[in-house]
Amino acid sequence: MSAETSDASSLRCSDPRLSEATAYVLSNPGKQLRSRLTRESCELIAGEPLPAAESIGTAIEWLHAYSLVHDDLPAMDDDPIRRGKPTVHVAYDEATAILVGDGLQAAAFNLIAQEETLTPETRLSIIALISEAVGFGGMVGGQALDMAAEHQTLEIDRLREIHLQKTGALIKAAILAGARCANADSEALNRLGEFADHIGLAFQVADDVLDVTQTTAALGKTAGKDQSAEKSTYVRCLGLAGAKEEAERLLRQGLSCLDYFGDAAEPLRATANAMVNRAH
Ligand code: IPE
Ligand code: IPE
Ligand code: MG
Ligand code: MG
Ligand code: MG
Repeated sequence: MSAETSDASSLRCSDPRLSEATAYVLSNPGKQLRSRLTRESCELIAGEPLPAAESIGTAIEWLHAYSLVHDDLPAMDDDPIRRGKPTVHVAYDEATAILVGDGLQAAAFNLIAQEETLTPETRLSIIALISEAVGFGGMVGGQALDMAAEHQTLEIDRLREIHLQKTGALIKAAILAGARCANADSEALNRLGEFADHIGLAFQVADDVLDVTQTTAALGKTAGKDQSAEKSTYVRCLGLAGAKEEAERLLRQGLSCLDYFGDAAEPLRATANAMVNRAH
């Protein structure tokens, strides 16, 4: 089941407008890097693809999609374009966009709860892991800090914390949840967790860089938005060249955490590279 074609019962809805808006989001799924990470970290540990990683990856993409729908709302970043199309509040309305996000979040946890190829204990541990990552101490808390930091130039350590929470936490959860599907031991989880911290941060640094180096057409979202909203970004803090260097440094550090796994980590290495060296 893929994020765009899923017919999961948890997405069923009797309101036609809400159903249509949800389908509008899921039919345009973006790069799907997080589900790719989940599949690859699962296969790294299991030595073969596991069906549970498909469901968990889909759930993570739904959570990510929800975060984007809410991130674009007028009360947050106020963006009219996402993934090359009008944002949900523009194509529909604000209330619908809020409800699409709320519904996707609930559906994501329902999907994991119903993944019958995993033991109840593993399902619970993955739900605990992901809910922590997207909650007050992770993505949601990071989004609040990001909003509060507008019009400020922060110390780099403070900005790092914001980026780790708003973006890094879900990426880390995607990687660790894939490994947990395959019953990874604590050593493997620690190595993957360290890889994830670096790559999750590098990904948001790259996003900050792309905001100033790419066009709206290439990005599928409004270019130059961080500057016009005076967002606290790595580019604002370190300059464009400094931010690019930092992304590369983080990538190198992240990749070194995968040495432990040898050649089996090649797919994860390729994904990590694609997350930093990308055009959109
Ligand atoms: C964008 O994420 C939001 C950030 C956390 C930087 P992606 O760049 O993964 O967006 P999609 O899913 O491909 O549209
Ligand atoms: C978004 O960060 C982070 C989350 C959605 C949690 P941004 O605000 O930088 O993402 P874009 O640039 O709008 O995709
Ligand atoms: Mg934002
Ligand atoms: Mg935004
Ligand atoms: Mg951005």
